Amino acid sequence: MNDDVKDIIDNLGPDVHRFAGKTVLIAGGAGFLGRHFLAVFKRLNKEVLAKPCRVISADNYITGDQVVVHDNEHFDGNIIDVWADVSHPLPVREDLHFILHAAGVASPVYYMKYPLETIESAVQGSKNLLELARKNSKLEGFLFFSSSEIYGDPDPKAVPTPETYHGYVSSVGPRACYDESKRLGETISTIYHQQFNVPVKIVRPFNVFGPGMKHNDRRVIPMFTYEALNGRALPVHGTGTQTRTFCYVTDAISGFLKTLLKGTPGEPYNIGNSNNEISMADLAKMFTDVIPGTKANFVSYPDVYPAGEPQRRCPDLTKAAKDLGYASKVDVKTGLTRFVDWAKAQEGYWDKKPA
Ligand SMILES: NC(=O)c1ccc[n+]([C@@H]2O[C@H](COP(=O)([O-])OP(=O)(O)OC[C@H]3O[C@@H](n4cnc5c(N)ncnc54)[C@H](O)[C@@H]3O)[C@@H](O)[C@H]2O)c1
Repeated sequence: MNDDVKDIIDNLGPDVHRFAGKTVLIAGGAGFLGRHFLAVFKRLNKEVLAKPCRVISADNYITGDQVVVHDNEHFDGNIIDVWADVSHPLPVREDLHFILHAAGVASPVYYMKYPLETIESAVQGSKNLLELARKNSKLEGFLFFSSSEIYGDPDPKAVPTPETYHGYVSSVGPRACYDESKRLGETISTIYHQQFNVPVKIVRPFNVFGPGMKHNDRRVIPMFTYEALNGRALPVHGTGTQTRTFCYVTDAISGFLKTLLKGTPGEPYNIGNSNNEISMADLAKMFTDVIPGTKANFVSYPDVYPAGEPQRRCPDLTKAAKDLGYASKVDVKTGLTRFVDWAKAQEGYWDKKPA
């Protein structure tokens, strides 16, 4: 992960100095993306910024595990980790300059298990954090983590999907708790910009993956990796023709921070990698190269997985390129190889680690 953090900081260039001496609140700091943000700020404090940045990570650990912020080698007293549930108002008393709302229940298996908590983190959580933002006169940026899922199952003519596409989403389907609450989170964020001038930016991430995803995350890349490392066939749902565009975490985190620093307030931005569109059947084949001996098994959708998944997912990134100078760099095979190398070194990924 150290190389990944360096890549992110290199991608950001001189803009990172805007964090010097500032205070950042990261809601969802114990999650996959949250941990990467913490690692980036830790490295910025250690090596780059003239004045350290103070970072408050807040999480209720519904799916995240408590963060180990400090190890003996790299103690950074500017980074703190607190238990907090964003569905309730947060008693933060210090001035905040940036707020990242990355708290949510992101993995389909978990949002099916926790539908009300999913809605609360996106709706009430957004309102509480935006109220906090509104009280902070020095706030420079608020980043709401929406999702590519707000597009639902897009019309094939709207793939690659631009930010102007309004979506095709069911309000009562099995994915509605996630899709609809993210959509309402975007609406609330937009209103706080329009009515109170909060500098809100919205990101719509498209399937980010990378080191830090837990073996039991249940999103496809960590799930396939866990199965393959333990010698089990990869369970490809349905016909395997459904596609996703996987974005390696270094590209994504750079894109998110660029959106926070340079995005137009009140506007949404797609962040992903439009070159990496791949079907689930081809993804399973790619695992055979990365973990030799891996086999695929085509299975019907399990009950724990919400039905109605989108058939294609691919972002149009024209706006992010033009407004933010965003460009993704890591192709899916390179990213997958980096991820699997990392996973092999994690105890959690092995039922029984080979000697
Ligand atoms: N990673 C992706 O590919 C992706 C894609 C689209 C959208 N997103 C969105 O980005 C955000 C971060 O994604 P991630 O991959 O890090 O997800 P994650 O599930 O790994 O992390 C989310 C974190 O939020 C915490 N959380 C949930 N509800 C909370 C609450 N009420 N109060 C405080 N903490 C709470 C969880 O415990 C977890 O640590 C999420 O909102 C997700 O929906 C991510």
